[in-house]
Amino acid sequence: MLVFKSIKNLQEYISSFSADKTIGFVPTMGALHKGHLSLINSASLNNDFVVVSIFVNPTQFNKAEDLKKYPRTLEADISLLNKVKCDVVFAPTANEMYADKVESSSFNFDGLEHLMEGEFRAGHFDGVGTIVKKLFEIVNPTNAYFGEKDFQQLQIIKKMVAKNKLDVNVIGCKIFREDDGLAMSSRNTLLTSEQRKAAPLIYKTLKQVREKFETDCIEDCINWVKNEFKKQPILELEYFQIADEETLKQAPNNNSKKNYRAFIAVFADKIRLIDNIKL
Ligand code: PAF
Repeated sequence: MLVFKSIKNLQEYISSFSADKTIGFVPTMGALHKGHLSLINSASLNNDFVVVSIFVNPTQFNKAEDLKKYPRTLEADISLLNKVKCDVVFAPTANEMYADKVESSSFNFDGLEHLMEGEFRAGHFDGVGTIVKKLFEIVNPTNAYFGEKDFQQLQIIKKMVAKNKLDVNVIGCKIFREDDGLAMSSRNTLLTSEQRKAAPLIYKTLKQVREKFETDCIEDCINWVKNEFKKQPILELEYFQIADEETLKQAPNNNSKKNYRAFIAVFADKIRLIDNIKL
């Protein structure tokens, strides 16, 4: 496995692959966990080469404190990647990716960017779009793998690829969970033991709401979720929404329950956790 920090060196190496070989790409911000490894596994099963990027992208953080606290474990990540089928790691600096202008481009994702995460994290999706587009242009992958935990991000990246006519297949992979149901996330390592103990409530609530959705109207489901979180002091609900998977718009209160997903964002003090479930 080779590790590159420079775009030029990475591209020189990638251009030595013969043109008929496929590249599976897994973009990450590091602090790798089993969820990332499952993306890498999918990439390795379906491609000739696997490239993983590790870059904590400053432009997608809307709070300086969140960026500062984000776990950075490059050495441990590289030794983990050495044990799996990963051919190339790209771990650039911010200067390499942005030169002296650490700024996002502005994107129009047909409104997907203003809902849910976009509403609560101003500029977040411009940052994600900027870095993922840059990475796609550098790596030129055949297939790129993203976890469904960030389902809105996945839909936005698909939109970005379609609008910019980029030649890459964007593949969503199922959410990887801890034994107690908590969706795997690099942010989980920041939780105190008390917060970690409380956090499985998120998925437990999503599973219960999936059942409720069979019989109850959307407004009742939303109110029930709000109440579940009010009953305990550790997790604070930021939003809960039932939305159409494609448009991400709030589901109308009708009987057509096809392709809806429940989305949730919760704070454990300053640590923000998100999750979702297909209904
Ligand atoms: O999901 C992430 O880890 C990041 O948003 C991504 C896609 C690597 C872009 O920085």
